[in-house]
Amino acid sequence: MSHAVTCTAPVNIAVIKYWGKRDEELILPINSSLSGTLSQDQLHARTSVMARADFASDAIWLNGKQESIENPRLQNCLREIRKLAAAKQTHQQGAPLPTDKVHICSVNNFPTAAGLASSAAGYACLVYALAQLYKVGDSLAEVTKLARVGSGSACRSIYGGWVRWVMGEAADGSDSIAEQVVDEHHWPEIEVLILVVSDHKKTTSSTAGMQTTVETSSLVKHRADKVVPQRMEDIQNAIRARDFETFGRITMQDSNQFHAVCLDTYPPITYLNDVSRGIIDMLTKYNAHKGKIQAAYTFDAGPNAVIYLPRENVNEVVNLVRHFFPPAVGAEAAFVRGFRDVPA
Ligand code: DP6
Repeated sequence: MSHAVTCTAPVNIAVIKYWGKRDEELILPINSSLSGTLSQDQLHARTSVMARADFASDAIWLNGKQESIENPRLQNCLREIRKLAAAKQTHQQGAPLPTDKVHICSVNNFPTAAGLASSAAGYACLVYALAQLYKVGDSLAEVTKLARVGSGSACRSIYGGWVRWVMGEAADGSDSIAEQVVDEHHWPEIEVLILVVSDHKKTTSSTAGMQTTVETSSLVKHRADKVVPQRMEDIQNAIRARDFETFGRITMQDSNQFHAVCLDTYPPITYLNDVSRGIIDMLTKYNAHKGKIQAAYTFDAGPNAVIYLPRENVNEVVNLVRHFFPPAVGAEAAFVRGFRDVPA
C-alpha cells in the first residue's frame, strides 16, 4: 500500500533577522526573529512525499535532480517525524509505518540559494507534508519545531501573516517555536517587491556564515542581547498598530545591522553588492524626499532586495527602479498573505 501527500509552502522574509545559533544540532537561535509570509502565487516550494513498504530506500529529488538523502538536516527531519510516528503507531489508521521508506520530490519556482529564503519554504513544505503523511504534529506549534530542525527560518513559513520565532531558553529546544503575531488579513495594504539583483548561488551559505559570525564577531553578541529584544517588542507593536513609519525604520535598521555584523565577522562576509547599495541609497533619498518612510528595504544572505511598502507606493517605486537600474533587476510584487496547504 502507498501513502502520498502534496503540499505547497510560501517564502517568508525576515524584518528582524535570525543570525547565529546557540545550538547547531537542534538549530536554536541566539535571538528571536520576525517575518512576513509572502503569498504563494509568485514564490513557493511544492513537495510531494510518498511512503511505501517496498521502496528500497529513502530518496529525494530537488528541482528534478536526485540529491543525497544523507543531508544531515534532512535526516534530522525524517528522524524526528518517525520518532513521533513510532510513539503514535497504535492509533494512526491510514498512516505508513515508520519503517516504510519515503520518496520526496520538491520544486521551487524561484532561484534556489540566491538569498531568497528557498530553504525556509523547502523545509516548511517538506515537514508539513511528512507530518500529514505520518499523521503527526498535532498542533502547528509542533510542526514549527519539526521545520526548525530542517532550517531555522523554515519554522516561520508554517504560518501566514506576520510570524515571530521565539528563541526560547530550554536546552532541548522545546520552547523555541514560531507563533503567528497577526494573520494575513490584519494589514492587507502591505505589499512586497522583490528585486532580483542576482540569481547566482550565494558564496557563503547562511549556515556557515552565521557560524563564523558567532565565533568571531563581538558585535553580534551586542545585537542579540541588547538590540533585538527591544526591536522585537517595537516592531510587533508597530505591526499591530499598522504604523508603517516605525515598522519601516526598524526593518531597515535591522537589515543594516545584520549586514554590519556580517562585516564584523572574520573573515568578513559581504552579501550586498553595488546594485544592492544603490537600491539602499535610492530608497533612503526617496523616503527623505517624501518626508516620511514610504518604502523599507531588507536584504537577507544575498544581494537581492526585498521592499516592504504600502500598495499605494508600488507603482512609484517600480518606476524608480526601472529608471535607475538595469532591466535585469526585475520587480515582482507579492502580497503578504497566508500559508495554504494543498493536500493531494
Ligand atoms: C539571513 O534559516 O537559512 O535569511 O538555520 O542554518 O538553515 P539555517 O539558516 P537559515 O538562515 C536565514 C538567515 C536570514 C535571516 C532570516 O531569515 O531570519
